[in-house]
Amino acid sequence: MVENNTLKAIELAQSTQELEEIRVKAFGKKGSITELFGMLKQFDGETKKHKAKELNILKAQIEQALAAKKEFLHSQELAQKLVQEKLDLSLFSAPLRGASHPVMLTMERVVAYFTALNFTFCSGPLVEDDFHNFQALNISEHHPARDMHDTFYFRDGALLRTHTSPVQIRTMESTKPPIRIIAPGAVFRCDYDITHTPMFHQVEGLVVDSEDKISFAHLKYILQDFLQYMFKDVRVRFRSSFFPFTEPSAEVDISCIFCKGDGCRICSHTGWLEVLGCGIVDENVFKAVCYENVSGYAFGLGIERFAMLLYGVNDLRAFFENDLRVLEQFA
Ligand code: DAH
Repeated sequence: MVENNTLKAIELAQSTQELEEIRVKAFGKKGSITELFGMLKQFDGETKKHKAKELNILKAQIEQALAAKKEFLHSQELAQKLVQEKLDLSLFSAPLRGASHPVMLTMERVVAYFTALNFTFCSGPLVEDDFHNFQALNISEHHPARDMHDTFYFRDGALLRTHTSPVQIRTMESTKPPIRIIAPGAVFRCDYDITHTPMFHQVEGLVVDSEDKISFAHLKYILQDFLQYMFKDVRVRFRSSFFPFTEPSAEVDISCIFCKGDGCRICSHTGWLEVLGCGIVDENVFKAVCYENVSGYAFGLGIERFAMLLYGVNDLRAFFENDLRVLEQFA
């Protein structure tokens, strides 16, 4: 048998490059196998024939081993390359530029206050019917309050909710008292100027418990505390008002955060800023959802109004024009 360690070397080879070096060492001009073939001329007759045969067998074995190993290493190297050069298309090459929208930041702050007090987060549909948006809230067909709502109607009588108050009705329809909910969301009114946009956000609150358990004092306490939490060092006042779904009703003002109550252009020189509406739930609302022997309070506020005050924005439309020069200030 011809002495040669090429087969062993092939077995140990780790790369196609190493394999090529082994091939050259064996079959190149000065290669070990080439040399062995050269040495055949030292022999004659049967010995030469025998040696030549053995050498050809070895040559064939080496060639076969080289081809097999080459294929193996090739596929191994390909698999490695696929892993190493994999492109993660979900990775951004530039840093993220997004930031929470000031309206959402304000909404989160409001919701955080009430959820900490055990209010449950609720939502309702944006496309409502007349019953939930108006009738059940004690706003009958010809009630003048409907005019104030500038409602977007669909052809079939459905409408885009004009406030979050219908969530009160939907919650009471599907749950038994006691109820303690907060319902933030988008609302729609056909209006557009410096303080109105066709879509804006409200947060509705509703608390219902058995008869005589809920009084105006509860409402007053929680809203006072909430407004202190939102605005720090403000005075709060309740002004008697009217809403069809609450009786008695109140509008709530805070002392002007810009002039500290002295009077300025923003508070129309009154020293006060109106921030929300509230009241004791009207009996007719409870009747509409077949609730008996209960008492409750409700309140509703406009998120954009709060955001304008908190961030000193004086044109509501700025929130929705997506001008990066405005939005980047909140990043
Ligand atoms: N829904 C009223 C509006 O859009 C806001 C409101 C006022 C909600 C008083 C209430 C409330 O729940 O008690 O103007």
